[in-house]
Amino acid sequence: MTCQKRAGPVKYYIMRLFKWIKTALKNPRELSTIFPSSRFLARTIADQIDFSEPRDIAELGPGDGALTGPIVDRMHPDSNLLLIEIVESFCKELSERYEKHEKGQAIEVLNRSAAELDEICAERDIEGLDYVVSGLPLTTLPDDLSEEIIATTYETLRAGGSYIQFQYSQDYKENIENVFGPVELHRVLLNIFPAWVYVATKDQT
Ligand SMILES: C[S@@+](CC[C@H](N)C(=O)[O-])C[C@H]1O[C@@H](n2cnc3c(N)ncnc32)[C@H](O)[C@@H]1O
Repeated sequence: MTCQKRAGPVKYYIMRLFKWIKTALKNPRELSTIFPSSRFLARTIADQIDFSEPRDIAELGPGDGALTGPIVDRMHPDSNLLLIEIVESFCKELSERYEKHEKGQAIEVLNRSAAELDEICAERDIEGLDYVVSGLPLTTLPDDLSEEIIATTYETLRAGGSYIQFQYSQDYKENIENVFGPVELHRVLLNIFPAWVYVATKDQT
């Protein structure tokens, strides 16, 4: 019984990793890594969010949902979550898992580019997001695309809303500070590869 219990999550992780590597080989620039994020990184990201009231949240590049789980688990039932992912196979997986979520929160999976975040919000009459969470590999995507995504993220956040982005280096800190102002950094060592979580908050004015 104990062995079965132990084998369950290990087998699940290996299957998930195998699927992830297959997808990464097909989309190397979009995924940029052969490992999905760890639960430690996912928790650090979720810890940056105030879940005490309903929130409008968008996640850019959710992949197979490594960061999504703790957000969905902690989200207020009246929250809205948009999952915007460019790889279709990930979208299918996310739709199956989350679109009929038991807690009944509004979770929508969109097979579109993160650069369309402003249009996506306008189509849904969302006036300002509270949080944008992102696992996009800003350093491997084309520079103009990364810049466009940071700009549209800033535009779609409400005043006081936060952009939470992880990266494996501090290389993109300055680009984000050029748009948002000072970025707060959190280090997560228990991840392959060790990561930095950037938190940038839009001015209240
Ligand atoms: C480094 S992976 C992170 C996946 C997941 N969030 C995690 O932490 O394990 C980057 C993800 O961003 C997605 N992606 C890349 N470019 C994108 C774009 N322009 N719009 C939306 N998603 C994109 C990739 O398909 C991939 O799922």
